[in-house]
Amino acid sequence: MKIDFNDLSSSLKGVVVVPCFENLEFPKSTADLDAHVNGALLVAATDAGFKGAEGKTLIVRGLSYKETKTVILLGLGKKQDFTDLKCQNAGGTSLAALDESFAQEATFVADFGDDCPVKAGTAAAQISFGARLRAYTFEKYRTRDADKKKSAVKSLAILTSDQATAKAAAQDLEALALAVNSTRDVVTEPPNVIYPESLGQRAKELESLGVKVEILDEKDMAKLGMGALLGVGQGSAFKPRLIVMQWMGAQKNKNEKPIAFVGKGVTFDSGGLNLKVAGGIEDMKYDMAGSATVIGTMHALARRKAKVNAVGIVGAVENMPSSTAQRPSDVVKTMSGQTIEILNTDAEGRLVLADALWYCQNRFSPKFMIDFATLTGAIIIALGDETAGLFTNDDNLAEKLLAASKTTGERLWRMPLDSTYDSHIKSEIADMKNTGKGRTAGSISAAKLLEQFTNNIPWAHIDIAGTAWTKSDWPTTPKGATGYGVRLMDTFVRDNFEETA
Ligand code: BES
Ligand code: MN
Ligand code: ZN
Repeated sequence: MKIDFNDLSSSLKGVVVVPCFENLEFPKSTADLDAHVNGALLVAATDAGFKGAEGKTLIVRGLSYKETKTVILLGLGKKQDFTDLKCQNAGGTSLAALDESFAQEATFVADFGDDCPVKAGTAAAQISFGARLRAYTFEKYRTRDADKKKSAVKSLAILTSDQATAKAAAQDLEALALAVNSTRDVVTEPPNVIYPESLGQRAKELESLGVKVEILDEKDMAKLGMGALLGVGQGSAFKPRLIVMQWMGAQKNKNEKPIAFVGKGVTFDSGGLNLKVAGGIEDMKYDMAGSATVIGTMHALARRKAKVNAVGIVGAVENMPSSTAQRPSDVVKTMSGQTIEILNTDAEGRLVLADALWYCQNRFSPKFMIDFATLTGAIIIALGDETAGLFTNDDNLAEKLLAASKTTGERLWRMPLDSTYDSHIKSEIADMKNTGKGRTAGSISAAKLLEQFTNNIPWAHIDIAGTAWTKSDWPTTPKGATGYGVRLMDTFVRDNFEETA
């Protein structure tokens, strides 16, 4: 999709998106259009009960004004509540409505008036960002063209009073949209295509953006003593990998300690010998979403040349049952030296992260680590697919993450992690066990185990089992892989850890 930022007086090409705030406040620049269609827009709106509520759209066809035949009225809600995020949603919602009306060419009249809390150029850029995110499709495995549901919109003109600001702001946002959409690609790929080695190859593609990528194989990991990660992978014909990415973007202080991201990359989670049941097991292709978020975050930072040193670590394994698979009741030794009793081979993510987290802090001494993982079904029970669970040993990190969550709309909710829950991971024979107390506090016991491998450096764990995938369309996310976390991390880094000019 080609997106241009044009002057407010430009001609209205193709299907025209006319945004309006509550109480049907139309843009000033569409007054001419409105006059020529004899108030047909207002009539259509009144007739359909359209009042400009946020997220509502109304397609009005059969108009005749210069080239314009079809207008999409787009509700924005209350003007005083308008935000950058709502602009993104407006861009996404309008893209979906444009697709529904089979528009190939479209014009979005991004004229919100001088009293709008979002400035014109920013609003236009955010609209383009939302549209790019909503236009995402994954059609590579359809061989019949007719089945491909490509977004119909080929070119979108966004009319704004501040083209210069819009164009400048849209550049970084376009880079971010690319990173989010390629994250969605990796998550959506089937597990016969994305397995530890091929996931590593995807990460390697970031080398073209200046990211250094190293890949450790089983032997390297055995030497390091990563018994927990290797134990999870030992039942699979696909051998484990540890992917290590470095983006050293700091300019002033090149030796600045890095910040670090760690991802769970279980390319398929069958459950292992504690095999999962039919109905749900096929979802486990996205059990590597945490790793995709980490790769996507490195992608986003590198693509916009963020002035920060950042490290991304991915533990990539496939969890399968076989005669070589690990057994419930096995005891494994981690790189840290601590031992874990495996009481359920389906609680494998924490085992992978135990060694990945330890390796990360041991090698890089980062300022902090943030891990992303589709770790527990319990977090879906608690928070649904709308909100990810945040667990952290550091209030300062929590505050910054929650602020970025507010800005980006990638929702987070802080969960408890204090010593009250220590008893949940006590083992009869090892330092800890990989399960909790039955069905209680399942997401917390998982986080508790991770905490043992942080060596007490500032750390946050984000459980994205719910948010990595959505079964329904959202304004800037078509149903499927969401790419959750990339926008969150991009903003979190930009707002807190980048060198300023
Ligand atoms: N990958 C799953 C968690 C999951 C569930 C992710 C649904 C996405 C959607 C994880 O490895 C798992 O199986 N967790 C178990 C832990 C239990 C055995 C202690 C769970 O949540 O049931
Ligand atoms: Mn599992
Ligand atoms: Zn899993």
